[in-house]
Amino acid sequence: MADIAPAEVRAEELAALGAVVVDCTKCRLSENRLNVVFGSGNPDADVMFVGEGPGQREDEQGLPFVGRSGELLEQLLGEIGLARADVYIGNVVKCRPPKNRDPRPDEIEACKGYLRTQLQLIQPKVVVTLGNFASKLLLRTDTGITRLRGTAYEWWGRFLVPTFHPAAALRGSTRVLAEMREDFQLVHAVIEGKLQRRSPDPVAEDAVEIADPEPEQLDLFS
Ligand code: URA
Ligand code: SF4
Repeated sequence: MADIAPAEVRAEELAALGAVVVDCTKCRLSENRLNVVFGSGNPDADVMFVGEGPGQREDEQGLPFVGRSGELLEQLLGEIGLARADVYIGNVVKCRPPKNRDPRPDEIEACKGYLRTQLQLIQPKVVVTLGNFASKLLLRTDTGITRLRGTAYEWWGRFLVPTFHPAAALRGSTRVLAEMREDFQLVHAVIEGKLQRRSPDPVAEDAVEIADPEPEQLDLFS
């Protein structure tokens, strides 16, 4: 991996990117948004979360995960000794899809460069993808979150832990919440140094095994 700039420099670049993205009109999601939700938190975080896209509350406030999903996220973070301010939270798309519909492939394509740059500037030890959209995009796979979760994948010289979206836990089953807790324990193990990378290989072996053989439109880091 290339040399990493000092944290202050990366934080400044992240802020500069955020200032550009507030005016972005690269996709149709710009038409109905109230605010761009660029992301928030510690620009030098060990843990970066990636959600799907802003909901109504997030669109109103310009901040990620401020609704009920955010409360659950904070609770789960607290259980592994972390506060929201310790981590960075972003999304696959930065503008709210109308009526909370799923983001479309062309919208994800238009927006994903911002996420890539956020990851490159923050350099987290572990990326936690919340739900199908973020997990499939970053692991370049069509495999669903139910099968993906439960593993810390080696990913571009760091770890990636896919888990359910908090909204899935809020919708229902206690099993989903219990499995999210297991996944957060994996996150905890990574930041405590209890999970070591097996190799400096930039591409996760596990992720390659499970990856879709035609990942070119999801080449997030290349
Ligand atoms: N759900 C998401 O995926 N992202 C948010 O920011 C809020 C809810
Ligand atoms: Fe730009 Fe992303 Fe918003 Fe689309 S979703 S307008 S690409 S910031």
